[in-house]
Amino acid sequence: MRKSEIRPAGNATLNYQGTDYDLPVFAGTQGPNVVDIRKLYAEADIFTYDPGFTSTASTESNITFIDGDKGVLQYRGYSIADLAEHSSFLETCYLLLYGELPSKEQFKQFDYSITHHTMVHEQLATFFRGYRRDAHPMAILCGVVGALAAFYHDSTDITDPVQREIASHRLIAKLPTLAAMAYKYHVGQPFVYPLNKLSYTDNFLRMCFGVPAEEYVPNPVLSKALDTIFILHADHEQNASTSTVRLAGSSGANPFACIAAGIACLWGPAHGGANEAALKMLMEIGTVDKVADYVKKVKDKSEGIRLMGFGHRVYKNYDPRAKAMQVQAHAVLDELGLHDDPLLKVAIELERIALQDEYFIEKKLYPNIDFYSGITLKALGFPTSMFTALFALARTVGWIAQWKEMLEDPHQKIGRPRQIYTGPTERAYVPMNARK
Ligand code: CMC
Repeated sequence: MRKSEIRPAGNATLNYQGTDYDLPVFAGTQGPNVVDIRKLYAEADIFTYDPGFTSTASTESNITFIDGDKGVLQYRGYSIADLAEHSSFLETCYLLLYGELPSKEQFKQFDYSITHHTMVHEQLATFFRGYRRDAHPMAILCGVVGALAAFYHDSTDITDPVQREIASHRLIAKLPTLAAMAYKYHVGQPFVYPLNKLSYTDNFLRMCFGVPAEEYVPNPVLSKALDTIFILHADHEQNASTSTVRLAGSSGANPFACIAAGIACLWGPAHGGANEAALKMLMEIGTVDKVADYVKKVKDKSEGIRLMGFGHRVYKNYDPRAKAMQVQAHAVLDELGLHDDPLLKVAIELERIALQDEYFIEKKLYPNIDFYSGITLKALGFPTSMFTALFALARTVGWIAQWKEMLEDPHQKIGRPRQIYTGPTERAYVPMNARK
């Protein structure tokens, strides 16, 4: 069990119906203090009301810190900019899972373990054949990731720390294989098996773009860009899909089922599906001269459209991931000679106009990571339908680290929010022939 690190930081008083209730206040190491309302219902007979959890800390966590107003994102205290520049995705996975950067020997062992768990049970391949060829890769991933529980019984006992660790390594290792299989199935090419001499990201690119007829030669610029995308997406504290994983896990569900739940949540266009939506929007705008008109339509709200890839629930400043992503987008377009790409031009114009416009300034709507990741992934050769699957691949380590942390938390309970009920009060059943 993990020791709680929260410190007392005074009290808050709630006056309700003439009675004062003292509520303890706690501090973490960074970020706002929290008011502890755990005993409020028992003592004062009221709930708190916070749809979307915009003011509620659902857990103590020491994995990821975000300061949305300042545009700060840190994994275990390391800034995302530092990690994106100096680390690799696999090293970042170690950091997120174990809390510290690995020594050489620790990294060697971790790399060995992940690399040697990349193959999937051969029978899983038959699952794919049950899907239509045009199935969305996220529909496939929801199914096959959940199905892993049926193949790896020896890592579903969540009370055993060894089994938890094996499940963690399996998920981080197998997600690229499964995502690549979803892609290959979609394009009608044979599955490409993992190759252990390659790095995590080179191996993934080969499983996606290699064919048995030819040798696959990794391109370090493209590989670095994708590895960076993975780092930038690896964790994002208690976002919707992570909270989903924690909620699913709080009932004691096995890790594969929990990650499948996270994948289902990530699929939505307001969350992981935004990079796909952002690229579709750029294609719909088409040319630079149409940008101003499009922005006008967004602002007058008559058509209910939003600028996809703009705005964020917590970043009310430039998304720090968007900066690193922009660098990689340019590196890839340079490498592939695509700098005159019309979509990039539309993106830059959109960014320029939106950053100057009162509507976006006043609402603190800045480009988020998805704004640039879509362009980069398209240039790398991925169809838009794969974008969210790549996000799921990268976020798996964050989900797993948060799931593990939850299980080791002494305060962990089954997640069970309350509600303010506004439906009918008790009434008598009316037989069908007596209803109007
Ligand atoms: N374009 C135009 N207006 C917007 C946008 C946008 N992208 N986002 C928010 N607004 C407006 C919204 O209409 C509202 O205006 P008003 O105050 O006049 O009613 C105001 O800004 C606040 O909007 P909100 O929906 O209350 O803000 P939120 O913090 O709940 O929403 C969001 C966050 C990400 C869902 C939203 O900004 C959005 O829909 N963005 C586009 C989708 C997107 O890019 N999502 C990716 C998020 S990053 C990836 C991830 O971490 O999963």
